[in-house]
Amino acid sequence: MLVLRNYKLKVFGGSANPELVTKICRYLRTSEGKMELTRFPDGETWVKISENVRGADCFIIQPTCMPVNENIMELFLMIDAFKRASARRISVVIPYYAYARQDRKDQPRVAISAKLIANLLTSAGASRIIAMDFHAPQVQGFFDIPVDHLIAEPVLAREFAKKKVKDLVVAASDMGGSKMARSFAERLGASIAIVDKRRYHSNKVEALSLIGEVAGKNVLIPDDMISTAGTMVEAAMFLKKHGAKDIYACCTHPVFSESALKKIESSILKEVMVTDTIPLPEEAKKVKKIKVITVAGVLGEAIKSIHNETSVTKLFR
Ligand code: R5P
Repeated sequence: MLVLRNYKLKVFGGSANPELVTKICRYLRTSEGKMELTRFPDGETWVKISENVRGADCFIIQPTCMPVNENIMELFLMIDAFKRASARRISVVIPYYAYARQDRKDQPRVAISAKLIANLLTSAGASRIIAMDFHAPQVQGFFDIPVDHLIAEPVLAREFAKKKVKDLVVAASDMGGSKMARSFAERLGASIAIVDKRRYHSNKVEALSLIGEVAGKNVLIPDDMISTAGTMVEAAMFLKKHGAKDIYACCTHPVFSESALKKIESSILKEVMVTDTIPLPEEAKKVKKIKVITVAGVLGEAIKSIHNETSVTKLFR
């Protein structure tokens, strides 16, 4: 058990991504805190902390991946339990923050779910949030408690660099991804291109035009998430039509909803590198072109820094 400063560090995980929790605890050389997480016959969630946390510096790890509503509700109840058990501080580690895509009123009479979830986490009793690659970085501002917004880019770019791919262009799959593409390109010493995409249905996208040159080049398409894989696969086909050679993809959050896996498997993508913010479904493990890189070290280091009250800036290099 790490005892730093005057308060005990305690790490707990919900049921959304137990493998990641184990890896983070291993990184921190601490054992995972004990909890009971069950369901009542009518589906209600029940949580109980099975050890004393009074006065402890507690970190709860729970990505809000599928089943999204179940995992979010479990997280709220966990936070509430820690608050009522007199934890000194409750830091909520949300490797993947769902509901982030609805972050503004883009049509009449719709909800802003990204803000609502931020409010609910704070009301439940979270003292601070540690998250990774929000769908839009400005979601940080939806919270009135401290947020450490980490990025998977250094880990993904370092891993990709090992391939030593020549004549590389980093392409954004849509206008919104251009900042991320530029940042990857700077790390990898590549040039950039941008696909102009239109989404005409939640699972249907269309590439419209290309900014930049990809003919005769190898391409890496980074993104924050792959959900239905419509964006990624459409962008890859479009770039191929424009003369790209090998096309690689990487993303932080492998949401993989609907028929994403089939689309990826049958696509022209050479490799899809993802992180373990979300556990991969069993079928995904059979798709050879999907490669998983862990971000347990980044999250573990952030937990250590927060607990020790040292800077997290090194995690962005
Ligand atoms: C778009 O703004 C995002 O960066 C992702 O490209 C998008 O959310 C992925 O969704 P899908 O895989 O369903 O196209």
